[in-house]
Amino acid sequence: MTAFRLVLNRNPGTPGIVILPEGGYRRARAEIMSWPGYAPTALRRLDFPGPASVRYKDEGTRFGLGSFKALGGAYAVLKLVAAELAKRGVANNATGAALEGGEHREAAQQITVTCATDGNHGRSVAWGAQRFGARCVIFVHHNVSQGRRDAIARYGAEIREVTGNYDDSVRAAQETAQAEGWFVISDTSYPGYTEPPRDVMQGYRLMAEEAIGAMPEPPTHVFVPGGVGGVAAAVAVQLRAMCGAQGGQASPRLIIAEPERAACLTDSLEAGAFTTVGGDLDTVMAGLACGEPSLLAWQELERSAFASMALPDAAVPGAMQALAAQGIEAGESAVAGVIALEAAWNDPQARQALGLGTESRILIFGTEGATDPELYARMLRANSPSRN
Ligand SMILES: Cc1ncc(COP(=O)(O)O)c(C=O)c1O
Repeated sequence: MTAFRLVLNRNPGTPGIVILPEGGYRRARAEIMSWPGYAPTALRRLDFPGPASVRYKDEGTRFGLGSFKALGGAYAVLKLVAAELAKRGVANNATGAALEGGEHREAAQQITVTCATDGNHGRSVAWGAQRFGARCVIFVHHNVSQGRRDAIARYGAEIREVTGNYDDSVRAAQETAQAEGWFVISDTSYPGYTEPPRDVMQGYRLMAEEAIGAMPEPPTHVFVPGGVGGVAAAVAVQLRAMCGAQGGQASPRLIIAEPERAACLTDSLEAGAFTTVGGDLDTVMAGLACGEPSLLAWQELERSAFASMALPDAAVPGAMQALAAQGIEAGESAVAGVIALEAAWNDPQARQALGLGTESRILIFGTEGATDPELYARMLRANSPSRN
């Protein structure tokens, strides 16, 4: 049995603040769908007895970057570079295709973008910077594996290591950018800094649109991994856009799946208020090692999330192995939703609290593939507690 903590939202309903306006999403969607190599990722059916269906959105093949993050950071880099070129009187409305074709290259190279990352977001930002012609510096904390650093450096970005945890690397990126006149492209938002993260989240919505659109009937339950909450909030907004208001009996229930050592969204829902988690946030689910919710994400999730679950690292190898046995390459952070579903399904109280049953149509966002192949291979060999 997987030990877990389940917190139900005490204030469910429709958020009062529109964090991701539809016009912005239409622009993001059109741009990203025009990128070379764009294709919807697969929605796979999982062999999971009990519910009517369990589907897994497999982001492992997204733009060759291995995660859904390819949709967000790179798009926000494009928006920033285009806006800066306009401000500097170089070009009005420079498009991705024009920049990728080398137009305004000299001016774009004067722009430096930066961010903190635990792997996937930095890879997306570096990829975007390389494509659209900007300079790029990425900040990592000591727990980011060499494999993930190498994958970022391959896109020509400079990597800088920071002492401390993910949240310290966010601060380092912000402070250096201020001192150097660089531009932070963060996937998390905070008071006074919301525009790039909003673009990042608009990009993520495309993943949700593809998944919901590919289901024969709308889902009843949706499981999403939680880091700062950006992807969960983007999924929530898209669910509302496609399946109607949240909070009603018939609307899909969004369940956030977090590591117990970095459960800032679970803690926030429990407290009924924005809550941060300290410590080194050491979890094998590296993409989810975040101690502070994104401000924008929280403004959405405090109403639209149905519940959040905090999950132990010990369950990760087994879940990755179970998916591998079904032909799915799922990274450590991708399996959080699968672990959450299994844990809740096997616990009568949690199953009832979430309203899971034989009629349920489950959608799980599997947000990454083997983004660190060496670590992936080790996890597949690891012993894991017995599963039931
Ligand atoms: C694979 C993967 N899944 C999920 C997440 C969580 O996304 P967010 O921080 O927007 O909650 C991340 C974040 O880096 C990630 O890399």
